[in-house]
Amino acid sequence: MPNSPIPREQLQDSLGDRGPALALPPETFTSADFYEFELDAIWNREWFCVGRAGDVPERGDYYTVTVGRERLIVVRESDEDVAVLSAVCQHRGMILAAGSGHVSRFQCPYHAWTYSLGGRLMGAPDMIREPGFDKGAFCLPRIRSAIWEGFVFACFDADAPSLHERLEQLRQGLAPYRIGELRAPEQLELIPYEWNWKLYGDECYHCSHLHRDTWHAAYPTPTSRVDTETEFNQSELGIIAYELLGELDACPTRTGRRLHPALPGLSERERSRLLYVTVAPNLLIIAMPDKVKYFLWLPTGPTSSTFGASWMFPESTLADPDFKERWLMERDDLAPVMDEDVWAWGSVQAGMFSRFAPRARYAPTEAVLARLNRWLVDRYLAADAEPAADAEPAAVA
Ligand code: FES
Ligand SMILES: [Fe+2]
Repeated sequence: MPNSPIPREQLQDSLGDRGPALALPPETFTSADFYEFELDAIWNREWFCVGRAGDVPERGDYYTVTVGRERLIVVRESDEDVAVLSAVCQHRGMILAAGSGHVSRFQCPYHAWTYSLGGRLMGAPDMIREPGFDKGAFCLPRIRSAIWEGFVFACFDADAPSLHERLEQLRQGLAPYRIGELRAPEQLELIPYEWNWKLYGDECYHCSHLHRDTWHAAYPTPTSRVDTETEFNQSELGIIAYELLGELDACPTRTGRRLHPALPGLSERERSRLLYVTVAPNLLIIAMPDKVKYFLWLPTGPTSSTFGASWMFPESTLADPDFKERWLMERDDLAPVMDEDVWAWGSVQAGMFSRFAPRARYAPTEAVLARLNRWLVDRYLAADAEPAADAEPAAVA
């Protein structure tokens, strides 16, 4: 594996051990060499989220995602199991599935090799009778995966610690929201953007500035209402949280109140806040009085990524005849907020290319970013300290 192309001392300035934590070096958002290093230091070793099991409800349903250089298929293999497979055909390497859909088996368009939903080679025209051809020796590489509260996670490292153990305290904290039972009215759509994946790191310093006329008008977020010290924080595990404190049933809508029934069983306190939990490296869970949203992002290059946002509700809310109209109205009302975020992310990426790109310290309500950076830098430093020969690939057979 490569060593960090950015000196350790510069990375350490983001730890906050020698004064205020500084933002990550601008090169971490622009450098192709650093991206290579980071693919190994973070993405080859950590669990990352690839979406929701509910987006593949029926056996044979699948969708695809790109993570770094890997094209992955997330497929409902059986009633119980969702598999994460490499989409690289094991004949000559064609990517054999894209987008999403429903199949009884995967067939490569190039020479029609076919694979079961679990990735076993089922057929290979003209090859099966070739002497010595053992179709049992071929299968789509299967990536280690786990489902947590309905989220599908994958990990290229067979030795990474258990995802469920890492997220157990969070699971207990979020239990009142019953996230595993919530469902999105639409499949997640990951949209490509031309900036580095780390720019999606979330904070609410900007809510009352960038979103002054949009979000802030619907859900005021002065600093006094941003609690970055919530008990949901487990920074060393890459679980980084803050709460926005509001009135009972306050939501960022045109009325300032929730438009859907409250999630059953939430306490008054839970109904009076918006809870933001980042599960590093690429999932943000937003628990609200009437729904749970999530943002998910994946790297596709040094300065490219995909990002999607999804809204999840209980079945009882989804079944309401007026649900769709209310949901679309709410979503349209919030679209300008997302437009402002997209504008800011693109603009900051442009700033990162400049010779004048800054490494400033953070505001108090940006503590989430300092914590997230610490989780990242700990991993950069650990990977950088390893001897060069340790790079093991990815997939778990
Ligand atoms: S590359 Fe897929 S069948 Fe040949
Ligand atoms: Fe924002």
